[in-house]
Amino acid sequence: MSEACLSPKPSRRSDVAPFLAMDVLSAAARLEGEGRTIIHMEVGQPSAPAPQLALTAARAALEHGRLGYTEARGIRSFRERLVRHYRDTYSVEIDESRVVATTGSSAGFNLAFLAAFDAGDRIALTSPGYPAYRNIIRALGLVPVEIEVGAETRWCLTPDLLEAAQKDGPIKGVLVASPANPTGTMMTPQALSELVRYCDGNGIWFISDEIYHGLVYGTEQATALSTSHNAIIINSFSKYYCMTGWRIGWMVLPECLVRPVERIAQSLYISPPELSQIAATAALDATDELELVKAGYAKNRELLLQALPELGFDKLLPLDGAFYVYADTRRFSNDSLAFTKAMLEEAGVAATPGADFDISNGSAYTRFSFAGSNENMVEALTRLKNWLA
Ligand SMILES: Cc1ncc(COP(=O)(O)O)c(C=O)c1O
Repeated sequence: MSEACLSPKPSRRSDVAPFLAMDVLSAAARLEGEGRTIIHMEVGQPSAPAPQLALTAARAALEHGRLGYTEARGIRSFRERLVRHYRDTYSVEIDESRVVATTGSSAGFNLAFLAAFDAGDRIALTSPGYPAYRNIIRALGLVPVEIEVGAETRWCLTPDLLEAAQKDGPIKGVLVASPANPTGTMMTPQALSELVRYCDGNGIWFISDEIYHGLVYGTEQATALSTSHNAIIINSFSKYYCMTGWRIGWMVLPECLVRPVERIAQSLYISPPELSQIAATAALDATDELELVKAGYAKNRELLLQALPELGFDKLLPLDGAFYVYADTRRFSNDSLAFTKAMLEEAGVAATPGADFDISNGSAYTRFSFAGSNENMVEALTRLKNWLA
């Protein structure tokens, strides 16, 4: 074969940044392979198993059920149970026809972006923010518009910031998580409502990632649906419900997007796994068990809020919800990538460098997840204390 023969290349759109939290996880696994014990505070996943009710339902389905494709939008009983969830949790009435089951919230983003936007459309995100947003947006040929948020707005997006970003070109959509990853901050119901109304008034799709709902510590949580039924709601069983590996989530859509999403879902995924839909339906009744898990996070949160400042991590963002502490770590290093690498290798504590979430200012920050056990938090603090001494 001649030298001049052109070999095929990966697409330009696939050239998205790696997820550093996963790289930290791999480095931690390498150290564990060498016999070290590592305290994992890098990935945002609950250490608790799926609730018993979900496991019992799944076992029964495996025992006598034939698991097959379902409707692309999910099984009806699952969607109907979610309608009740909105009534009970938020006093919001929705029609079952607007609920779509998805393969985790990650599939929900793909479907929502494909149904609402055309290639080249500009989508606003906060920075810091969850890195997969910008990667999915880029991979789909859309343009992420990262808007820096800081202490002035309590790390939240506002209509003014959005208005300013519109000067560089029209924004077609806004994606916001509240509580947010990595900051753990929440928009007040009023701030959320103002932003949703701004979007409605300016023909902008508002996409509300409500995946950390339920994990809120003494702050009021609101769904964007309370303000507008044009909002696209994305949620998941991965966080509050402790079902990361089941890959199951849902969306509530404005009526005009239901059929477009259904058509795309039929071709992209056919349907979410039936077993996970059955288990997730049962998980919606597991409040007692899940509130106990949440009480564990609340205890971890209290512990870290008290102990981290004593170790010198004295600039923490307001910790309203989720299970993350986002700490300004400039006191220790201006390069959080190097800082977290040393922390992992020398102290055996894995945390995520802020560069994952914020390309401009992330090197000043480190994210610690407190989704692990209380014993692990105590051990992490002891190790950090010895390391920093
Ligand atoms: C803010 C946010 N949204 C979405 C996801 C994706 O979750 P899943 O696809 O498991 O529902 C995550 C995962 O960490 C997240 O932090």
